[in-house]
Amino acid sequence: MEQPINLFLVTCLFFFFFNQPRLSTAIDSQSIKINVMSLGAKPDGKTDSTAALVRAWDAACDSPKPATIFVPKGRFLVKQKAQFSGPCKTGAIIIRIDGSIIAPSDYNVLGDAEFWLQFKNVDGVSILGGVLDGQGAGLWACKSSGKNCPTGVTTLGFSKSNNIAISGLISLNSQLYHIVFNGCNNVKLQSVKTLAAGDSPNTDGIHVQISSDVKILKSKLSTGDDCVSIGPGTTNLLIQDVICGPGHGISIGSLGKDFEEEGVQNVTVKSVTFVNTQNGVRIKSWGRPSKGFVKHVMFQQATMINVQNPIVIDQNYCPDNINCPGQVSGVKINDVTYQDIHGTSATRVAVKFDCSKKNPCKGITLKDVKLKYKNQPAKALCINADGTTLGLTEPSGCL
Ligand SMILES: *[C@@H]1O[C@H](CO)[C@@H](O)[C@H](O)[C@H]1NC(C)=O
Repeated sequence: MEQPINLFLVTCLFFFFFNQPRLSTAIDSQSIKINVMSLGAKPDGKTDSTAALVRAWDAACDSPKPATIFVPKGRFLVKQKAQFSGPCKTGAIIIRIDGSIIAPSDYNVLGDAEFWLQFKNVDGVSILGGVLDGQGAGLWACKSSGKNCPTGVTTLGFSKSNNIAISGLISLNSQLYHIVFNGCNNVKLQSVKTLAAGDSPNTDGIHVQISSDVKILKSKLSTGDDCVSIGPGTTNLLIQDVICGPGHGISIGSLGKDFEEEGVQNVTVKSVTFVNTQNGVRIKSWGRPSKGFVKHVMFQQATMINVQNPIVIDQNYCPDNINCPGQVSGVKINDVTYQDIHGTSATRVAVKFDCSKKNPCKGITLKDVKLKYKNQPAKALCINADGTTLGLTEPSGCL
């Protein structure tokens, strides 16, 4: 076994050395490079590097050539909200992070700033590597003690931005959501990790809304709320090769909180493993009037391991039963397919469609679904749901 590995290594090294000089001269002549340490950032975990990061961004953004911002190894404290705004002169900015960017441990410092690191109106931004440490544990503890605490901040946000690529990034212990896309087009996330305690409040892994053509690939999302939450106005979303857990699963919704709301369409969730999560694949809407809708959704090849609600549509969401007249959802759900979903449920009811009295779910398809509870077929429950069951499906017989 030694021989092939050595050969592989030698080949890699050969390509590395052979290609490196040519590659860097090519980049040198066409792009600018900015090391945040040249602008005063310090890898000591103590000096506030916010201003240096923002200055690096402004220089990159102002450059007519493609730019690379480099954050070297070490711990860079970013104590304040850092806003990276466009539009920029260049349509290609790479942020390469070898080290960690650390939020202040005192949650009152960022308080209600909404975002910690926020990109706004940008186009063609890539983030490669890096650890973003939100240091959220203090805020979670404050919230669970019932004290009066700030809302906290999302670790990384993109608003009104296009052509975004994130790869190899790790988000640790966000105060609130880990990563949020709002009003974005053409986003690709790959090999991303989110990591927060299973009981941390509102620490969704990735939240997408009013955005199109978003891909979330080969990622591991462990957190205290939804691994991925899909908000109103999401179209053409692909989630593939993802491991989710702990967390609340992959959720379309909550939808229908507002009357005027954009719908969700063309969502594909493929090859996802859920481990010890509260839900597997879920669609959730408020029991309130709304113009919202969900259509053309495909949940495919999912493995459930000890999941409390593997397949669930809940159109009666209404925390504390406040402001949900008659508990009837206006959100129309149509054309949702569950195919090749198998594994174990932690509760007897593994499939639950609790749809709106006024707008029953239509076009629900269950195909080759096999879910067990304590080594026996689990149960299915349908309320106001219409559709077909195909192939070998267990539990069967409620559509
Ligand atoms: C649906 O979304 C996928 C990405 O998951 C995209 O490739 C496809 O073109 C979209 N379909 C339509 C009809 O827009």
